[in-house]
Amino acid sequence: MCGIIGYVGPQGAQKVLVDALRRMEYRGYDSAGIALVGPDGIASAKKAGKLVNLESELAASPIKDANLGIGHTRWATHGAPSDANAHPHVSANGRVALIHNGIIENFASLKAELVAEGVPFKSETDSEVAAQMLGREVERGASLADALRAVSRRLEGAFTLVAVDADDTGTLVASRRNSPLVVGVGEGEMFVASDVAAFIEHTREAVEMGQDEVVEVTASGYRVTDFRGNETQGKPYHVDWDLSAAEKGGFDWFMRKEIHEQPQAVADTLLGRFDADRRLTLDEVRISEAELRTIDKIVIVACGTAFYAGLVAKYAIEHWTRVPCEVEIASEFRYRDPIITGRTLVVTISQSGETADTLMAVRHAREQGAKVIAICNTNGSTIPRESDAVLYTHAGPEIGVASTKGFLTQVAACYLLGLYLAQVRGTKYGDEIATIMRELESMPAKIQKVLDAQQQVLDLAAELVDSKTVLFLGRHVGYPVALEGALKLKEIAYLHAEGFPAGELKHGPIALVEQDLPVFVIVPPQGRDQLHDKVVSNIQEVRARGARTIVLVEEGDHEVEPYADVLIRLPQASTLLQPLLATVPLQVFACELATLLGHDADQPRNLAKSVTVE
Ligand code: F6R
Repeated sequence: MCGIIGYVGPQGAQKVLVDALRRMEYRGYDSAGIALVGPDGIASAKKAGKLVNLESELAASPIKDANLGIGHTRWATHGAPSDANAHPHVSANGRVALIHNGIIENFASLKAELVAEGVPFKSETDSEVAAQMLGREVERGASLADALRAVSRRLEGAFTLVAVDADDTGTLVASRRNSPLVVGVGEGEMFVASDVAAFIEHTREAVEMGQDEVVEVTASGYRVTDFRGNETQGKPYHVDWDLSAAEKGGFDWFMRKEIHEQPQAVADTLLGRFDADRRLTLDEVRISEAELRTIDKIVIVACGTAFYAGLVAKYAIEHWTRVPCEVEIASEFRYRDPIITGRTLVVTISQSGETADTLMAVRHAREQGAKVIAICNTNGSTIPRESDAVLYTHAGPEIGVASTKGFLTQVAACYLLGLYLAQVRGTKYGDEIATIMRELESMPAKIQKVLDAQQQVLDLAAELVDSKTVLFLGRHVGYPVALEGALKLKEIAYLHAEGFPAGELKHGPIALVEQDLPVFVIVPPQGRDQLHDKVVSNIQEVRARGARTIVLVEEGDHEVEPYADVLIRLPQASTLLQPLLATVPLQVFACELATLLGHDADQPRNLAKSVTVE
């Protein structure tokens, strides 16, 4: 996600801001910018690409240093990574500069309102809407803090906003909803940032801001209110992490941090998906609804973890749309001469958007006349650029090589796509779609519940640290979860692991089962009785042969208890959505086992984050 820094104090703000942006480079970004406020008003510089581009720009066209400023590294969500879309955004009247992290869900209607009033826009971002609204409020005579409270009340979605006023060289204001904001309290200087890594070299005294709060910051102090102006208190704390721990939010690995970011990441994937008429929308669609109605086959193409997300998607898409859906490994796709016509919809899934195998599949599919929808996490990357439509997962940069939040958000995005197609094709009623969406929106809190109970999984990893082989079994959507659990173990713990459809076991793999072999089993929710009972029988089959059964099962399901050596409880969810929960303990297990074995969980041997060769 975007990196945010604000500074007010005796130092030259330019260096403080650029140094802070460098400290947040680890988060991943595609453009950077700063704005300073001095006696002559706001001066800003922003550039697409790495920080070095911004530094070259500042060297070539210096701006006057000041004691107040804001800085930003952007991870593109709305609008490509470009100079114009980089932050800060300065309001058209020149009064306000603003930086933003998050997604403003209702930006389109707010923008239409401003455009109707004649406000000119310079970027394609949702963020500029907040800058323009703030500029308008301040021009009408509101203080910057009052203006930010008023604007924040009107915004929907997730945001951290930091703003400065051209007429005030001593104050910055910030607000937050569903997105992080922390205040750094120095000696005669203050900071606001998206994480403490940004200011840790200046101060270790921090204040965490609560939900829906605004903070007004000067060099000598800060004042916190809610969005209505009632005084509230931030939560002060002392930061005792070193810089490397601070970058990882206090976790030992980016992977672990990203596992813990999943409730927020999935919530962000689901944000802003409805238009004013409460109809689902995708991010960029260059395929007409009429064309989507003529589709007679869907082919999902992806690699690795993204392929497993596709396997989950097949169940949901076929169930909701009744259109046949195949899932294909991208590197196999074009070599088998797939049957693709103008009525085939190809869906690619890629976190990076640069995976060569998947890109080649996109090109092949389009050459054959198919329409291509990309599900992707990286705005402006090659695969979405070459596709007919895009659904971004908005998970924020994934730094750990093994995909975690990438997977969960891909699965969530696939559900959205399935529901979107059901809406367009009329295979589900609006209220049925709304019910499923409500369940989806309840999933982040349930994922958090799984994470809150992770100690049991950490202990289990310690207990199983000497294992040589681990098996994973599942049926229906539990099968791809089993595959993903096994892949995570192979990748980062370098352990032999296999995922199987639970029913397939007796056709061969059961020969692998021996005394004390750990076997994870994902049990479907009880509502699907046949499916559920079959899996319970499969647990008995492996247990009878000496396996140590580790059973992931929903709360309230007591039927499996006699056959489980270890029970990992999952919050209740419908069968199709259960992968969003069942995958999480398997990620935690792999990460912990890798750690205990002394491996680098973030950079496993032989693997690259983005595989740009076929
Ligand atoms: C596994 C993993 C890989 C990727 C695969 C596709 O943890 O990260 O299997 O999922 O290389 O990458 P993207 O999604 O970038 O196309």
